[in-house]
Amino acid sequence: MRAALLLLLISLAAAENGIDAWLRYAPIPEANSFKDFVPSTIVVLNDSQISPVYTAGQELQQGINSILGQRCQVAYEGSDDSSIIVGTVEAYASTGGSIDGLQELIADGYYISTSAGGVLILGENERGALYGAFAFLETLATGNLSAGSYASNPDAPVRWVNQWDNMRDGGTHGSVERGYGGKSIFFWDGQYARLLASIGINGIVINNVNANETTINDTNIEGVARVADAFRPYGIQIGLSLYFSSPANLSHLDTFDPLNEEVIAWWNNKTTQIYSHIPDFAGYLVKANSEGQPGPLTYNRTLAEGANLFARALQPHGGTVMFRAFVYDSKTLNQTTNWKADRANAAVEFFDGLDGKFEDNVVIQIKYGPIDFQVREPVSPLFTHLENTATSIELQITQEYLGQQAHLVYLPPMWRELLDFDLRVDSQPTPLTSILNGSRFGTKRAGGYAGVVNVGTNTTWLGSHLAMSNLYAFGKTAWYGASAPSPSEIIDTWTRLTFSHDPTVISTINALSLASWPTYENYTGNLGLQTLTDILLGHYGPNPASQDGNPWGQWTRADGNSIGMDRTVSNGTGFAGQYPTEVAEMYERIETTPDELMLWFHHVGYTQKLHSGKTVLQHIYDAHYEGAAMAQTFPVQWEGLKGLVDEERYEHVLYRLRYQAGHSLVWRDSICNFYFNKSGIADELGRVGNYRYRIEAEEMELVEGYKVYQVKPFEAGSGGGWAIATIANNTRGVAEASLDDFFEKSGLSDGTYDVAVNYYDQALGNSTWELWLMDGNGEEALVGEWKGDLEYNLGRAPSPYIDGQTAARVTFNGVQVGRDMKLRIVGVPDGLESAAVDYVSILPEGVVD
Ligand SMILES: *[C@@H]1O[C@H](CO)[C@@H](O)[C@H](O)[C@H]1NC(C)=O
Ligand SMILES: *[C@@H]1O[C@H](CO)[C@@H](O)[C@H](O)[C@H]1NC(C)=O
Ligand SMILES: *[C@@H]1O[C@H](CO)[C@@H](O)[C@H](O)[C@H]1NC(C)=O
Ligand SMILES: *[C@@H]1O[C@H](CO)[C@@H](O)[C@H](O)[C@H]1NC(C)=O
Ligand SMILES: *[C@@H]1O[C@H](CO)[C@@H](O)[C@H](O)[C@H]1NC(C)=O
Ligand SMILES: *[C@@H]1O[C@H](CO)[C@@H](O)[C@H](O)[C@H]1NC(C)=O
Ligand SMILES: *[C@@H]1O[C@H](CO)[C@@H](O)[C@H](O)[C@H]1NC(C)=O
Ligand SMILES: *[C@@H]1O[C@H](CO)[C@@H](O)[C@H](O)[C@H]1NC(C)=O
Ligand SMILES: *[C@@H]1O[C@H](CO)[C@@H](O)[C@H](O)[C@H]1NC(C)=O
Ligand SMILES: *[C@@H]1O[C@H](CO)[C@@H](O)[C@H](O)[C@H]1NC(C)=O
Ligand SMILES: *[C@@H]1O[C@H](CO)[C@@H](O)[C@H](O)[C@H]1NC(C)=O
Ligand SMILES: *[C@@H]1O[C@H](CO)[C@@H](O)[C@H](O)[C@H]1NC(C)=O
Repeated sequence: MRAALLLLLISLAAAENGIDAWLRYAPIPEANSFKDFVPSTIVVLNDSQISPVYTAGQELQQGINSILGQRCQVAYEGSDDSSIIVGTVEAYASTGGSIDGLQELIADGYYISTSAGGVLILGENERGALYGAFAFLETLATGNLSAGSYASNPDAPVRWVNQWDNMRDGGTHGSVERGYGGKSIFFWDGQYARLLASIGINGIVINNVNANETTINDTNIEGVARVADAFRPYGIQIGLSLYFSSPANLSHLDTFDPLNEEVIAWWNNKTTQIYSHIPDFAGYLVKANSEGQPGPLTYNRTLAEGANLFARALQPHGGTVMFRAFVYDSKTLNQTTNWKADRANAAVEFFDGLDGKFEDNVVIQIKYGPIDFQVREPVSPLFTHLENTATSIELQITQEYLGQQAHLVYLPPMWRELLDFDLRVDSQPTPLTSILNGSRFGTKRAGGYAGVVNVGTNTTWLGSHLAMSNLYAFGKTAWYGASAPSPSEIIDTWTRLTFSHDPTVISTINALSLASWPTYENYTGNLGLQTLTDILLGHYGPNPASQDGNPWGQWTRADGNSIGMDRTVSNGTGFAGQYPTEVAEMYERIETTPDELMLWFHHVGYTQKLHSGKTVLQHIYDAHYEGAAMAQTFPVQWEGLKGLVDEERYEHVLYRLRYQAGHSLVWRDSICNFYFNKSGIADELGRVGNYRYRIEAEEMELVEGYKVYQVKPFEAGSGGGWAIATIANNTRGVAEASLDDFFEKSGLSDGTYDVAVNYYDQALGNSTWELWLMDGNGEEALVGEWKGDLEYNLGRAPSPYIDGQTAARVTFNGVQVGRDMKLRIVGVPDGLESAAVDYVSILPEGVVD
């Protein structure tokens, strides 16, 4: 007991910056009971130094030494029964070893046998042996090691991540598209490879899908080869995103027509060149004819002809083409003139008639939903149109539309719903996982999983410690498919590995994580309306109007009376008809469409009743109030972990959860006011538009330096779209308000309150604010001060505007406030930031306004 306590204290004392993620190998409370069980010699059956088997030996040594606090030796030959043997089945057999039951292993699979005498970790291939080593260490680190043997095989062959690095910006300072965790990670050491291998990832596409042709010029191929060298010992193969017109851009061919002989020769030659540097190159990822990119359609060729160009070039070398299905042409989308226009239809239309026309080494990579990584979408129907073509699902660990790692959103519950969804092809059970792993349409059609993971150089990897559970869970989801542990089990294991075995820590992170997606959906876009974020700027913060009136096709068609996309066959865009019959019939009718996708499939009145009995609009109001109220509990729940997790990560997480709680209110009020304004229909509970505890900044006395500012969009400013901002960026602003009016309006009496200030933290600059209270005797007291440096502390897209992206809240608790007092805000602008303020709330305990 004393020893365990001591270890616990040591692990708490160490500052943790997140770099070790779930591979901390922290000492475990049960260490002593395992010591006799885990041999002190590791016999590594590697056949080279760059073999993943060699890596497995190193990893086992490091992990066991650290977890059990014992010294373990590595040997490269000789095996006795009382050691840990790690290697491939073949290498083990060549030492004379044999084991029953190994025939069930497939590529990348592993077998682990643990007994009092020794431990055997065998892979079907070298990579499998490394996966086995990580699996063994995970069981040890979670305190779950016990005697027995088992085999584990991956559910699907493709378990890739896509990293959207812009290599053209070069070196360690390269930028990352949708990167919320800092700058480009490449040209770093092998730590990222190690992290990915530990969760069973076997391929990585290292550059942005919006690729640059120079990625594959002679110099850069050599650079990519060095990255491949760093990933190889971890069994991870490198792939590249291509720019379709590269032959024209790089070699000045006058065409990039996929059927042109010269173009074909060019790609064959380029591919051979790549393989001469990277013999185990995984293949290409291609975004073509999408969002303005060139592609085969430029020459009136089919997408299959485009994909096959690369497939044939790769075939002699064993590579694969991941061809993205994210194909649409915004020029054809006109919301005003065409009720039936629908971007959601595009993928199935573009791939119509192509099933079976792709070479066998083509995998069609399909985003989970038909639009673009929204908070809720139905499963893309394209999966059911490609029975003779391998497909993989594109998930996004990067929370592009899901709060950009500044909001906690644990994604596995969403992924599970999508992956388990039964598409009923030919009225037979067809969960999405059965298409991905080939069990439904044939093993030749097995594809798998692609996860967009824009880790950066930040030591937290993704900019947020808790967001890393999504990366961990992605690996587990891809490995296990339909039989993956539940989202709740995954988060518990992750927490044990990443934070602590303490039951309070485990249950708190479990509760926060599992509540997070429903909470985020509630305070952003409901009923299948999409996220309602600003789709024209940073994809962050509320801006429902930005969905409509442009050719991007993320429409909601909200007007004064009605809302939603009519995607029925009978009267709408026909999208519902892209599903197999049973599913199509379900979505065709309001009566059978689940509430959560009602506005995805139907255009209805605001007063349309949902299955829940609420009207559409009241649901939107209620969900926003409930979601925002739930988000207020997140930092409070986390505060219960003070002292139970290390200070560094405790503070880092708390900062984000507090920010999220404030921003959820910005979301709540923006969305509710937007639809209240559009529909004129009041909230049954009288909340929307009535803010009893607020003092609007624009109604304060502007003593110096501030002016009234009209916020755009209006709903991002309380009081009908008004705020105050400093007149110039070199003079401070002062605004004051006597509190007797406030006490009159709110009906409160003198007492202790929480005082919150909603302000705008634009980029770039560090404005500062002070909040003062002055009593009747002229005594002044500083309530608090804060700095507008969120853009330095949150990785989310920076914005220079006074809007829903930059709106934020700071709260000061337990402030003594009285009717004879005066409140004063002093704002000092900085850089491009104007120390803007929206309102002040004086809140009785438990009230959020
Ligand atoms: C395995 O790795 C060890 C350590 O680097 C090395 O000495 C040994 O030669 C390797 N085994 C083979 C067969 O290459
Ligand atoms: C590991 O052990 C913990 C605590 O005993 C238990 O709650 C958990 O379910 C176990 N996990 C697995 C995967 O067996
Ligand atoms: C390849 O492109 C890089 C920019 O990414 C450039 O610096 C380099 O000079 C180019 N190499 C060749 C051979 O054109
Ligand atoms: C690729 O990068 C070069 C150099 O930065 C630039 O001139 C070119 O336009 C880029 N190509 C694409 C397709 O963006
Ligand atoms: C083929 O690739 C080599 C580099 O491997 C290059 O030197 C040569 O110019 C290329 N030939 C053609 C016809 O593109
Ligand atoms: C593609 O087809 C369209 C219409 O049939 C035609 O106008 C256009 O010139 C063609 N483009 C090419 C590159 O052949
Ligand atoms: C849609 O069509 C209308 C009417 O022809 C036109 O005024 C409008 O500019 C078009 N909108 C877009 C986004 O192309
Ligand atoms: C049918 O579509 C029209 C637009 O063409 C729309 O105005 C109408 O509301 C729709 N009717 C129903 C019942 O959804
Ligand atoms: C989300 O909102 C719905 C509808 O008001 C409610 O039933 C549910 O409990 C809410 N969940 C969360 C986590 O806020
Ligand atoms: C703003 O503050 C951050 C830290 O909070 C600091 O890193 C940054 O340099 C400051 N920026 C300016 C322009 O002062
Ligand atoms: C990590 O990013 C956070 C902002 O998300 C920033 O405050 C911190 O300085 C960064 N740390 C490193 C080591 O890059
Ligand atoms: C004020 O803003 C201008 C640009 O609008 C900038 O050039 C200047 O440096 C800023 N001044 C201060 C004091 O930050």
